[in-house]
Amino acid sequence: MSELTDTKTKIRRLGKTLSLVCTIGGFIFALIAGISFLAACAVLFFPDLISRLSGFFEQNSLYRLLSATTGISQMETRFAAAIGCTVSAVTFSLLTFFTALFRKMLLRLILAEKPFSYKTASSIRKYSFFILLMLLYNPVVGILLFLTVYLFSYLVEYGAMIQEKADETSRIQGEMIVSFAEITENKSGQTGGHIRRVAEYTKVLARELGFSPDEVEKLGLASTMHDIGKLIIPAEILDKPGKLTDEEFRIIKTHTTYGGQLLEHVEGDILGLARTIALEHHERPDGRGYPAGLKGDGISMEGRIVAVADVYDALTSRRSYKEAWDAERALQEIVRGSGTQFDSRVVEAFQSAYPEIQRIRSQYRDA
Ligand SMILES: [Fe+2]
Ligand SMILES: [Fe+2]
Repeated sequence: MSELTDTKTKIRRLGKTLSLVCTIGGFIFALIAGISFLAACAVLFFPDLISRLSGFFEQNSLYRLLSATTGISQMETRFAAAIGCTVSAVTFSLLTFFTALFRKMLLRLILAEKPFSYKTASSIRKYSFFILLMLLYNPVVGILLFLTVYLFSYLVEYGAMIQEKADETSRIQGEMIVSFAEITENKSGQTGGHIRRVAEYTKVLARELGFSPDEVEKLGLASTMHDIGKLIIPAEILDKPGKLTDEEFRIIKTHTTYGGQLLEHVEGDILGLARTIALEHHERPDGRGYPAGLKGDGISMEGRIVAVADVYDALTSRRSYKEAWDAERALQEIVRGSGTQFDSRVVEAFQSAYPEIQRIRSQYRDA
């Protein structure tokens, strides 16, 4: 897992915990506001209750503050008690409102694709000073809330810093990948169209399978290197018209392990994905694939997606040893391989996104 994904997961987990605390806190505040409101009504309409509730008011710091500044306690009237309760009801209603607002902001932050920014961090820090107003009501709650929100702003700032670093790494990885793809294109006997179409099909399938927009983009880029290992396969074998001998097929198969080795010591989440794809795009759920003969969920989802994208494009393209199949026949072949050659969920996604696949096929047609 990359540093960014790791931090994002941690901060999202923390955000979810904080939002749960907000939900519980908001509920308690709303409950106290409701009780205060009912108490205000009760002291107004049932005067006898005042004497019984006097203990409650004496505990209330706002009431004590009011008593000290206005001498209201000496009035000992229903009106004074009602004011105390109403102030409490209004204060807790405001607290409920601010807690709900904070929770909403938290959720927006943790659900965003790029949740951290320096701007958000400084806004949080700026607004956290408003919480200091709480000191008037309850110093302990006020200080605790202020510190929590203030420290949270530093967490967001740290996230923004790592996000910035990761964006830079992604940009460098992207440039490297484009160069690699161009080399593969020139040396592997495949057209650039194949690499582009496989990347686009991969993105459509990943989107259909619920990957996030960021993951879809990364997967599309990583897929362009699926055949990077073909760089070591002699051109006579790659471009051979007609059937391959067993020995030639054995050599062709090594493009997966060689691709894996080539990307073994590179850093970065996209290149890591590219390595998995290079290794696993010829594996089959029934275990009859290569190089490792992995089965079912033992093959990464990324490998299973690129397998479908790659085969569909190979079938519908002309190769030195075969003519291009028509789209319908290739679709039938993919559906026929569901559960054996291909992952059934990926095939389902392929079928439901078929119109989009067709659009891409005609858009990136070989010249
Ligand atoms: Fe391949
Ligand atoms: Fe391929």
